[in-house]
Amino acid sequence: MDANRGNLVRRRLVWGFSVFVFVCLLLAGGVLRMRGARVTVPEVAESKAEGQEVDANGEGGQEAAETKEKVERPDHNHPAFGERKEERARMVERQIRARGVRDANVLAAMRTVPRHGFVRASDSRRAYADHPLPIGEGQTISQPYIVAYMTEALQLEPNDRVLEVGTGSGYQAAVCAEIAKEVYTIEIVEELAKQAKERLKKLGYGNVVVKAGDGYVGWEKKAPFDAVIITAAAGVIPQPLIEQLKPKGRLIMPLGRPFGYQELVLITKQDDGKVVRKRLLPVRFVPMTGEVMEEAEK
Ligand SMILES: C[S@@+](CC[C@H](N)C(=O)[O-])C[C@H]1O[C@@H](n2cnc3c(N)ncnc32)[C@H](O)[C@@H]1O
Repeated sequence: MDANRGNLVRRRLVWGFSVFVFVCLLLAGGVLRMRGARVTVPEVAESKAEGQEVDANGEGGQEAAETKEKVERPDHNHPAFGERKEERARMVERQIRARGVRDANVLAAMRTVPRHGFVRASDSRRAYADHPLPIGEGQTISQPYIVAYMTEALQLEPNDRVLEVGTGSGYQAAVCAEIAKEVYTIEIVEELAKQAKERLKKLGYGNVVVKAGDGYVGWEKKAPFDAVIITAAAGVIPQPLIEQLKPKGRLIMPLGRPFGYQELVLITKQDDGKVVRKRLLPVRFVPMTGEVMEEAEK
């Protein structure tokens, strides 16, 4: 009887020990698998994130990295920012605030950007006057009030990416670059594009990228945009520019006949891709040339 009980106790001890070892092995296996997961999952996540970034820009990794380097805020180190501040303050009070522009970011941008750095030396004296000025090649820099009005209508946010069609002197691009994160601007007259690029670089606008070309097709590689501003008049709204707008994106442009009746219109893209058009005010802009002219004749 005692011998049997002794055997039973031994068998139970051996059985209990075997179960204990089995459980230990299971636990050890689990820990090892978890360790493996901790190493593997983030690696996969990182490589996916890299892939998405390249895809979002629609370009190669190197070019994407270069784009990142280019994006900086304006540094305001150039002496022009310190010059003629009182004239700018007067311009804002008398020409812009007095006509109803209230967006604090826009008013600050108009006070900051040295407009006299964007006009020809022979027009410097009139840089803060209440009208457009010639910039060469038969083109103009818009009236300060119109620049402020159009910028306010775009309701820019600090993280926005903006596309401008019609760089001209680069002044409107600089005003947008004071508020938004990145500005891409296209000018059809090569010489103006070249001058604006040099001017903006000299003034420290590292967050503006200028290119020469027909803005009708937009800038596919940098799309989608939070806001698009067209600063030349066209008879139709360029379809590629609507397509390159984000949902809830805003587009402002002078719509109408070259040298005929034109009005500023604000287009807002809905979440479903449809657009809502709002008529703002009658204006007179130089014509948008290039492909849009053929489009308007159809
Ligand atoms: C009123 S000016 C723009 C003023 C400019 N935003 C500034 O701040 O000085 C219009 C500009 O649009 C340019 N332009 C006209 N058609 C264009 C097009 N299809 N693509 C790009 N630029 C165009 C003209 O050459 C001109 O420089």
